[in-house]
Amino acid sequence: MNENANFKVDPRLASLLGETYRSTEHAIKELIDNAWDADAPTIAITLPDPMTADSIVIEDTGSGMTELELRNEYLVVANDRRSRKGDRTKQLKRLVKGRKGIGKFAGLMVANIMAIETTAHGKTTRVVISKEDLLNATRDLERIDLPLTVVPAPDGVSGTKVTLTSLSDRFEFPLPEKLKTLLMTEYGREEDVRISVNSEALCLDDLPGEKFQKDDTIPDAGAIKLSFKVSDGAKSLKQAGIALRVGGKIVGKPGFFGLEDDPEIPPKLLKKLYGEVEADGLSESVTADWGDIVENSKAFHALKPVIQAHLKNAVEEVYKREVGLQRARIQRQINLRLAEMPEHRRRFAQIALEKVMKRFYGESEEKVETVASVILDAFEKDEYWLVLKQIDESKGGDIETFASALEIFGLLDMALMANQAKSRLKVLDHLDDLVRNPATLEKNVHSVIERNLWVLGYDHSLISSNRTLARTIEEYTSAKFTGDRASKRPDLFLAQNLRGGFFLIEFKRPAKEIDRQDQRQAQEYRDDLEPKFGQIEILLLGKGRDVTATMQNDPPRLQVFSYEALISSARTQIDWLLSELKSGESTSA
Ligand SMILES: Nc1ncnc2c1ncn2[C@@H]1O[C@H](COP(=O)(O)OP(=O)(O)OP(=O)(O)O)[C@@H](O)[C@H]1O
Ligand SMILES: [Mg+2]
Repeated sequence: MNENANFKVDPRLASLLGETYRSTEHAIKELIDNAWDADAPTIAITLPDPMTADSIVIEDTGSGMTELELRNEYLVVANDRRSRKGDRTKQLKRLVKGRKGIGKFAGLMVANIMAIETTAHGKTTRVVISKEDLLNATRDLERIDLPLTVVPAPDGVSGTKVTLTSLSDRFEFPLPEKLKTLLMTEYGREEDVRISVNSEALCLDDLPGEKFQKDDTIPDAGAIKLSFKVSDGAKSLKQAGIALRVGGKIVGKPGFFGLEDDPEIPPKLLKKLYGEVEADGLSESVTADWGDIVENSKAFHALKPVIQAHLKNAVEEVYKREVGLQRARIQRQINLRLAEMPEHRRRFAQIALEKVMKRFYGESEEKVETVASVILDAFEKDEYWLVLKQIDESKGGDIETFASALEIFGLLDMALMANQAKSRLKVLDHLDDLVRNPATLEKNVHSVIERNLWVLGYDHSLISSNRTLARTIEEYTSAKFTGDRASKRPDLFLAQNLRGGFFLIEFKRPAKEIDRQDQRQAQEYRDDLEPKFGQIEILLLGKGRDVTATMQNDPPRLQVFSYEALISSARTQIDWLLSELKSGESTSA
């Protein structure tokens, strides 16, 4: 039988066809999602060898479609499947992925020709769609004739094969590794589907990260086989956790075997663990529906701490490296400030800092800087040390016991940090009042900011000044602005940031808009100072820019800030920290 079929168009089509995909592999995944929705127990993807003109083939053994279904469901554009058939698939009760009724077009993003061969109820229906035809008729899709053929098929066979030929050269060539990673991330936990790419089944190796494998024999639980990955970088894994497999079947949901209650392991790190443990010795310990482990299972209680220890070792190994990297960037300034502390405070400061940094592991550098600068401030306060000294004395001063005492008193230093953060908010309120008062002079804001350099924010939160720099500026300005000019003396401040670079800050009145003339003047000061210090960055603070001083014309290494914007972004950081500390209190309580 040979006849034509047509697309039936839904009014939402036009906007939906604009859909784009992040990569060739993401586009191909749409077709695998369709096979999943068709209850396919197996899905085989074949990718062409590089540099060949071969096709991409996605073949599933799912329900397939009858001719009628192909015409009324597949060839209907933008038809919402779930409103038609519900959230779950018919046979296997899978959660349906299809939403918009346009996923099939993903094939035509990467290829010019898409052939669909689908078998159900003893018949194979075949239709070929060409991108060119579609593009030439976006307004009248339903008028395109699609050649459709139906031939008999053996009984009991069903499934769909999509062949994509003449791949578009606008897209990257599909890579099996990339596709496997993508599919493993999404389908790795699914037990009722077998997916292969170029005849290779998906496996743990397809996930990013470092692999760990442990075989062990545990009294009461027998032989176990643990294999998992700790993903690297900032990536957390979808469906993280370690699944328990007993007698070939997964029991319940993946979990962390108690590691989630370990205060030393930040939750962000748990999300980097992915894997499973085979423990056939637990077959007596599984509930009848295989949904969970029976309570009081001796075998499980024997197994749990062993798995937990393996996981913790691996996570700490990876974590030490990564936190080390993160911290190396701000360590220089931390060391400088630690060096200023009396000896006996320093070692406590190091331990507490370590703990806090661990807790904020994985946050952006900007946030970690805020945290480090807040805690360093807190260390310089005497009440903090009074409490620590008491703990220390009660423990006889040994560093290990002190560290464990700190664990118990974990909430204490969080509370002290919160106090510190709150006092920063007060400073911001005060500064806000100053800035809004038209009578405020340069020196008023200068004196507040000089004592609270963190207000200057990211990149400057750990800057510091010292007597030498202050004296240099004092001498420079009084020599330059004598007699009549004394009243014109600028308010300058020279500081050094954590990378060793110098900053010249010029404070203008909060009511003063910064214009070109101000910028020129600041550059003049810099020209005078640079021979002594090397490169200097300028920060000009005032009410913001004058209309004529547009950003694209800024001189090099000169930034203009408004006091208001500085205050507002400093406030955002502190608010974030306070809310973090609050959520910490409630989870540890
Ligand atoms: N491999 C397949 N096997 C059986 N039926 C399929 C297959 N692929 C598509 N279909 C049918 O065609 C319909 C349209 O597929 P399409 O991918 O365009 O939309 P969708 O999956 O419903 O939603 P989405 O746009 O979110 O993917 C599906 O709902 C399904 O009924
Ligand atoms: Mg789909």
